[in-house]
Amino acid sequence: MNQHPKIYIAGHRGMVGSAILRKLLIQRHPVDRIVTRTRAELDLTNQAAVNVFFATERPDQVYFAAAKVGGIYANNTYPAEFIYQNLMMQANVIDAAFRNGVQKLLFLGSSCIYPKLAEQPMCEDALLTGRLEPTNEPYAIAKIAGIKLCESYNRQYGRSHGVDYRSVMPTNLFGPGDNYHPENSHVIPALIRRFHEAKVNQAPNVTIWGTGTPKREFLYVDDMAAAALFVMNLPQATFNQYSRPMLSHINVGCGKEVSILQAAVAVARIVGFAGRIYTDPSKPDGTPRKLMDSTRLNALGWQANVELDIGLKAAYDDFLARYAT
Ligand SMILES: NC(=O)c1ccc[n+]([C@@H]2O[C@H](COP(=O)([O-])OP(=O)(O)OC[C@H]3O[C@@H](n4cnc5c(N)ncnc54)[C@H](OP(=O)(O)O)[C@@H]3O)[C@@H](O)[C@H]2O)c1
Repeated sequence: MNQHPKIYIAGHRGMVGSAILRKLLIQRHPVDRIVTRTRAELDLTNQAAVNVFFATERPDQVYFAAAKVGGIYANNTYPAEFIYQNLMMQANVIDAAFRNGVQKLLFLGSSCIYPKLAEQPMCEDALLTGRLEPTNEPYAIAKIAGIKLCESYNRQYGRSHGVDYRSVMPTNLFGPGDNYHPENSHVIPALIRRFHEAKVNQAPNVTIWGTGTPKREFLYVDDMAAAALFVMNLPQATFNQYSRPMLSHINVGCGKEVSILQAAVAVARIVGFAGRIYTDPSKPDGTPRKLMDSTRLNALGWQANVELDIGLKAAYDDFLARYAT
């Protein structure tokens, strides 16, 4: 038997999937033991195609980093697509994985699974304790269903088939491969784009929405990939010590918060924008604090190690390579 497991990365061209691919290659996982498909080659919402793919390729492990993702606007405008596509992709992949002998699978979720008013920092036990943020409820419901799919397959087939499907819930991520769409990007890529454009256009100042005081946690995507491999490869007995059969997901964060204004100042410095930064308190702030409690993951032995500035520099280099003329 080959000593290297055959690994399928679903969503290998996305920000998280491509970071997982990079990490596996850095760890010298042989390229011919990694399987990938673009959406054009394999639409994961197509159950028949997914079944044929698994029966043909028969991977040993699956990293599930494929998803329909987007910001508030996209979630609000296309709720049917968000819930349908995410439910279908994950149900097809998880069931086909099981039917074709995959014992290890890692499902990627998101911090939006937690109630809108969850106590901060948000620990794993907060799941299903309150109402979700309405704007991304369909997406969050799909992600919660993904966690429950993994847990249910473990509970029903763990003993009989050795099924061990795990879930990780990342905090806000940024880094190479991010989405810099003007209306549809997350905080860090939006700031990178705005400060870059202000620098190029020699704008004297940039105004950011709100008071700048809300606090957020940002994790560099290569740290996320390292955490994904770490959780996937934990011995089952160790993993089980820190999780419960019906509360098995693990938060992934760096544990450090910065205010939106601090993040803006850091991005401006990396981008080289020398003008002034103003806040606009007439615009909404959003939730004052959003932080993951990553105690479980830390207790298992993993810590983030990429500092914000280092990550921002790599993200900006990637932005320049992809978008700057
Ligand atoms: N970005 C963040 O800040 C963040 C934070 C927390 C959690 N996460 C989670 O991490 C996961 C990955 O996010 P990401 O930011 O890496 O997303 P992303 O950059 O948009 O990548 C998504 C990937 O999914 C693939 N995909 C989408 N629909 C598909 C379909 N129908 N069939 C096959 N492949 C399909 C895409 O394939 P193609 O490239 O071929 O189109 C793409 O590679 C998601 O579950 C997300 O919730 C992300």
